[in-house]
Amino acid sequence: MKFFLDTANIEEIKEAVQLGLVEGVTTNPLLASKEGGKDFATMIKEIADIVPGPVSAELVSTTFAEMVPEARRLAKIAPNIVVKVPISIEGLKTIHALSKEGIKTNATLIFGANQGLVAAKAGATYISPFIGRLEDVNVDALQMLTTLCDIINIHGLKTEIIAASVRTTAHATQAALAGAHIATVPYKVLLAMVEHPMTDIVNRIFMDAWNQSDLK
Ligand code: E4P
Repeated sequence: MKFFLDTANIEEIKEAVQLGLVEGVTTNPLLASKEGGKDFATMIKEIADIVPGPVSAELVSTTFAEMVPEARRLAKIAPNIVVKVPISIEGLKTIHALSKEGIKTNATLIFGANQGLVAAKAGATYISPFIGRLEDVNVDALQMLTTLCDIINIHGLKTEIIAASVRTTAHATQAALAGAHIATVPYKVLLAMVEHPMTDIVNRIFMDAWNQSDLK
């Protein structure tokens, strides 16, 4: 499973790329709105220049007639841009049209396995099932993710599953176990995956013993 970073924050992206773990970035209008200080195209170009992999930029228009030209504009910003398309009837038409033009897409706001299946069939390069926000409404998100992973694998569909709305290290572990190709994680979750309280406790025991010995 690959890790993407779920942020539009340049400093976080630079730090995470240095860790050697991050192979892509996903943004959305909420994440972009938290940064500000520049227009969206400039923000996305800056991210795309730093990241050694796909960078998802989300459409904000809602009709097929508007979504396709908006997607073409975003795709021209850099070669590693992936156009993020919210799932809907208009979104599916857009995904299909863009796939025929060779523009990569990430079908987002997937809350049910059927939505992921139809997006994959329409030609989405990536599909993004949301874990945390589905749990927020008391639905078993792990079951949805596992079902979707099984469907994609059973039928050999050519899309990659990005486990999204990851809030905890447990979500990242569950995504890996379910068979997601990618988990897109906030920076704080990525850092938390490196840590364990027992590592600190045992390291302290070892260092105290070392310092009290005559070895040094
Ligand atoms: C990623 O593609 C999604 O936009 C993101 O993971 C949503 O995360 P949230 O539900 O924590 O806002």
